[in-house]
Amino acid sequence: MTQKLWGGRFVSEPSQVLRRLNDSFAFDRELFDEDVEGSIAWARAIAEAGVLSDDELDAILGALARIEPPADGDYEDVHSYVEAKLYELIGAGAGKLHTGRSRNDQVATDLKLWLKRACGEAIEIVSALATTLATRALEEAATPMPGYTHSKQAEPVTFGHWCLAYVEMLRRDRSRFVSATERGDECPLGSGALAGTPLAIDRDALARSLGFARANANSLDGVSDRDFAAEYLFASSLMLTHVSRMAEDLIFFTSDEASYAELPDAMATGSSRMPQKKNPDVLELARGYAARCIGELTGFLALLKGLPLAYDKDLQLDKEPLFRTRRVIATLVPALRELVAGLSLDRDRMRAAAGSEALIATAVADALAATGMPFREAHDQVSRNLANLGSLVKEHGVTLDGMLAKKNAFGGTAPERVKEAANAALLECSDRS
Ligand code: ARG
Repeated sequence: MTQKLWGGRFVSEPSQVLRRLNDSFAFDRELFDEDVEGSIAWARAIAEAGVLSDDELDAILGALARIEPPADGDYEDVHSYVEAKLYELIGAGAGKLHTGRSRNDQVATDLKLWLKRACGEAIEIVSALATTLATRALEEAATPMPGYTHSKQAEPVTFGHWCLAYVEMLRRDRSRFVSATERGDECPLGSGALAGTPLAIDRDALARSLGFARANANSLDGVSDRDFAAEYLFASSLMLTHVSRMAEDLIFFTSDEASYAELPDAMATGSSRMPQKKNPDVLELARGYAARCIGELTGFLALLKGLPLAYDKDLQLDKEPLFRTRRVIATLVPALRELVAGLSLDRDRMRAAAGSEALIATAVADALAATGMPFREAHDQVSRNLANLGSLVKEHGVTLDGMLAKKNAFGGTAPERVKEAANAALLECSDRS
């Protein structure tokens, strides 16, 4: 028989329809490792508080270590699964583990342990993409291409500079996962159902034994706070938003019209109908998954916003968006990393496009301004003489490479600057690993 965690006051069994609606085992078994970990720490803490004898503690710890990760089964949730297995292994003694604990502080703790891991994983994955982009930036520090504003050719930049713009976004993303983890580093275990635990537990010591910095300070907040989860979804949404913008750029760079770059075969897909096609499905999926993650975040906030204190069952629905998001990050971002690493550039075509007269018009105006003419006037002169741009370019000795080299103040696209910035980014990446 599967052990139920409640039911004493009920005369009849829960209906199958209720079970289908209410059970969460089908998805929350992803928290199995964290649930066992939390239970081990709780067993030690209540033994310390005099609830378990040494033998009882040993029996519980020995059994928790032997529980197999869940396959399918008829359980309400992962907590019922762990407890049922504990009963199978040691009998009635299993029933002491839940003393002074509630599934409310238990699941909040499980989730925070899981979130710390998910953030750690995101940090690794994001750093790997940043490293690949910085490596490419170093290689292509002097490779010109047109830069765009309003999707119109604006001024030349280098491909390396473009790569480093995304490195900057990813650096901020990384720090968002780090600071979310710092704020989330408080352990809810010992909050009980809502009011705290009646046992004499050293909650800070318990928190530290689970790797948290400290215990959370209010039990009502402890069982209902899902800020860490919301911050994880926001950090993920913004990171995927960045990645989606990068994908959008690359879809254009690899388009038949721009043709600055070609996708590696291993990261492109074909058409069942049109033999010539080499499609950027990976990049399109990046845009699509970013959209979905933003939906997970808004859905999550909507779930929280009407909840009275403390625990409400709505909170059971907090998990799937988190699980899905972690899987998306783990699948999508490494694929993009491979795509960026394998992208082949048509440097001649990029240089030709970047060096067209129209793109260096701004430098002609700059050259006129350097003779002492107010820039507004210089701008006006060039824009009235666009038909003669060629001769103006010659007259003022403006060249593509000269123009790039001049953007040499901090943060600019001069190859020298890009090299320096790429090296700094690579150093930062290797310092962290
Ligand atoms: N499966 C539940 C959840 O995910 C566990 C907590 C249940 N607590 C309760 N009071 N029914 O939120």
